[in-house]
Amino acid sequence: MAHTLSGPERAKFTAAKLATDYVKSGMKVGLGTGSTAAWLVKQLGAMVTEGGLDIVAVPTSSRTAELAIDLGIRIITLDEAGWLDVTIDGADEFDRDFNLIKGGGGALLREKIVAKASHKMIVIADKEKDVATLGNFALPIEVIPFGLQSTQTLIEAKLKDYGFKALNIQLREKNGLVFITDEGNHILDTRLVRIANPRDLAVDLNRIPGVVENGLFVDICETVVIGYENGKGEVRTLLDGKTVTATIQDDKNIFSVIGQ
Ligand code: 5RP
Repeated sequence: MAHTLSGPERAKFTAAKLATDYVKSGMKVGLGTGSTAAWLVKQLGAMVTEGGLDIVAVPTSSRTAELAIDLGIRIITLDEAGWLDVTIDGADEFDRDFNLIKGGGGALLREKIVAKASHKMIVIADKEKDVATLGNFALPIEVIPFGLQSTQTLIEAKLKDYGFKALNIQLREKNGLVFITDEGNHILDTRLVRIANPRDLAVDLNRIPGVVENGLFVDICETVVIGYENGKGEVRTLLDGKTVTATIQDDKNIFSVIGQ
């Protein structure tokens, strides 16, 4: 590899690499979206083409689908898969109960559908995503284009009911154009600072006509793999409501596979 990876990229790489242990031949695997998930797809691609790993995968975005196909991973639709053994995806934030904010990459709708259709959802992340309370990262809400203004007004009213003040809801843009999701929708981003009750808020936002889905993932993720830039990792798993943490010491050079 020509250039040296930055610290954050090394951490993301490590999380993704450690999570590949959960993928075995014969599995149907949901592939997340984002820079951490891209490392996972790259490593699974190498395991398929060089190591004989035999999997089929359901990507959570057109971006991930393109990458997976390029790397030789066999892609099927979620309907063809029916049910997935595991989905591995990044997150923008996770809290102690493994509630998540997702959607920074704009793929939250497919990500939630795929994760919910999986026996197990694993989040891969660097330590920056570990928060006491969700909300510093702007919550993405996917809305249909029709009636965008009235949907936004209803969202604002609901958020005020919850006690959120000084709302600054932004229609997401990309390269100077309104962002359009893989499902042809828009995204409203709003930084709420402290989301005390993500469970209720997730349900109430989805009750608003025009809201397709929101980026709060509650009771979906059961394992978080945290990567550190030194190649070490931490696996946190929720077992009977308690978090069990395992520290992974890197005894081999985890980065050698990418020439680092
Ligand atoms: C995409 C997502 C991503 O998983 C999330 O934004 C994290 O991305 P990254 O790994 O690039 O930090 O939810 O919709």
